[in-house]
Amino acid sequence: MKKIIGLMIVVGVVLYVAYEALIYYDNNFRYGRMRETPAVRPHEDPLLKMEAGIVPVNGGEAIYRATAGDKLISPLDISQPGVLTRGKAVYLTYCAQCHGYNYDGQGTVGQSFHPLPADLRSPQVQSKLDGELFKSVSYGIPGGRQPALQTTITVADRWRVIAFVKSLGNR
Ligand code: HEC
Repeated sequence: MKKIIGLMIVVGVVLYVAYEALIYYDNNFRYGRMRETPAVRPHEDPLLKMEAGIVPVNGGEAIYRATAGDKLISPLDISQPGVLTRGKAVYLTYCAQCHGYNYDGQGTVGQSFHPLPADLRSPQVQSKLDGELFKSVSYGIPGGRQPALQTTITVADRWRVIAFVKSLGNR
């Protein structure tokens, strides 16, 4: 009797070890079955936490869009070094193809447009307020051809490019 019980314990231990070995093999070796059909466990990774400040509660694009151009004030101090240099770089990247390297509206791309791109050193443009130009550049001109660049250029760079355009003055 003792022998039989002893044998059963040994068989039990052997089976258990074999079972564990199989599971280990399946999960951890290249040819284990679990490798071919990997178990996908949802929500294994914790959900990302949203950082503070991602959703604007004041300021932000919607407020700019809703405010009339003559009520928008540029936040820039153009005497600060770098504002106009950066404005020029933005101009050369995003505007020159239409408004031209001489700011006269003679850029290659713009010549197929109707109306033609504005001469940025004309009194019509130079006499406008920064805020009005900001709105034209950001949201386009209704019925016109100025592209809305609100999703292309950051708010700060839009103010910089406008400061740069204004710094050119009348022809
Ligand atoms: C795809 C061509 C194109 C690009 C790029 C472009 N513009 Fe224009 N822009 C125009 C056209 C065309 C007009 C003519 C205005 C109209 O549609 O009545 C215009 C008009 C303007 C005006 C006159 C707005 C007004 O209120 O009278 C300003 C200022 C201006 N653009 C500035 C810019 C600046 C700054 C950039 C770069 C950030 C830029 N534009 C990029 C085509 C372009």
